[in-house]
Amino acid sequence: MKKFSSVIVPRFAIWPTLPPSIHLKEGSAWLPFPLNQESCRIFSRARQAIWSACKALELGSGDTVLVPAYHHGSEVEALVLAGLTVKYYEINDALEPDEVTLLPLLDETVKALYLIHYLGFPQDGAFWRKWCDDRNLLLIEDAAQAFLTTKDDTPVGAFGHMAVFCLYKTYGIPDGGAVVSIKPPQPPQLRAESGYWRMVKRHLNWIATRRGEVGFFHSLVKPAISWWKRTNDRPHAEFDMGNPDTPPSVMSSKLLPKLLCQDTARKRRRNYEFLLEHLSDMVPRQFAYLPEGACPFAFPLEVQDAQQFLSRLRRRGILGLLFWINPHPSLPVEDFPRSRFLRERVLALPVHQELTERDMLRIVRAVRECSASLPTQFAAVV
Ligand SMILES: Cc1ncc(COP(=O)(O)O)c(C=O)c1O
Repeated sequence: MKKFSSVIVPRFAIWPTLPPSIHLKEGSAWLPFPLNQESCRIFSRARQAIWSACKALELGSGDTVLVPAYHHGSEVEALVLAGLTVKYYEINDALEPDEVTLLPLLDETVKALYLIHYLGFPQDGAFWRKWCDDRNLLLIEDAAQAFLTTKDDTPVGAFGHMAVFCLYKTYGIPDGGAVVSIKPPQPPQLRAESGYWRMVKRHLNWIATRRGEVGFFHSLVKPAISWWKRTNDRPHAEFDMGNPDTPPSVMSSKLLPKLLCQDTARKRRRNYEFLLEHLSDMVPRQFAYLPEGACPFAFPLEVQDAQQFLSRLRRRGILGLLFWINPHPSLPVEDFPRSRFLRERVLALPVHQELTERDMLRIVRAVRECSASLPTQFAAVV
């Protein structure tokens, strides 16, 4: 029989938490890209920003966009709802667009290339901008996971004709998706929600990283919430766009200036490097080196039975995420083996800026305990 105290453990999730002291802080004078751009517009979600920017760029019916098979799904849904036809390409071993699969897709209907900066790792925006310019295509940069990432001192998103960012993935705000575009959409017109409840959840998550009792309570109610969601959600509800005219919540607009900090990327990098030092044998090789300028969203781990690994981690207070397990329903999954492999095998661990070295050690210990009893890496990525 497990000792009660062994389940009263702090909980660490990949989402940035919100320290209560933030309310007392002054707003930062520092405005990183894209927030410092006149053409920047902020919506509640990045998917709404994508839809609105496509409309502003007059991309729609009769136009095709080339999209990686390794994607979240909500960005694809936004493109489809904007009227675009989506053609998929495979990514190469370095997670870059694979030119061999891109070139045969080109025809006169293709108007844009969609480039995703995975987990905050920068793609070569300059190269792909030139590639697009040479073919008279628009470059759409998806930096949903890469706010604050730079490459050669240039922020990701600066090369695209359009670029999108999820602000709430980097900071513990309730929502916020930013877009910059050569033709910016008009700002969202609906009335902003308060965002109070989601703010409270972020505060609770912060407490749960320090107080095992709160983490324990979370572990009791979470399965019930997940069950309720599973029984009430429609399939693919996670890709729903909602109303594209939705602005960020009041709390997001109020808290973001207080949270912006020039040290965020450095702290995330420090936490990533720590995990790399201790868990390098379990990292997919594409993520085994942290490039300069990257602001990592999470730490990837390659395991054979990701679901089982995650549930073992959960029992130790680490809430990893098998992100992107479900692709957009329009993807012919079997045609893209590399993307499939990544979806099924790569899970994400927390590295956000609120975590301390002690927290990171806890994460390492939990992973090692789980991997001692389960197989981890087997096949190389195909
Ligand atoms: C790569 C990518 N693009 C776009 C989105 C859409 O972001 P949002 O959920 O803010 O609409 C996500 C969401 O996770 C994503 O991972």
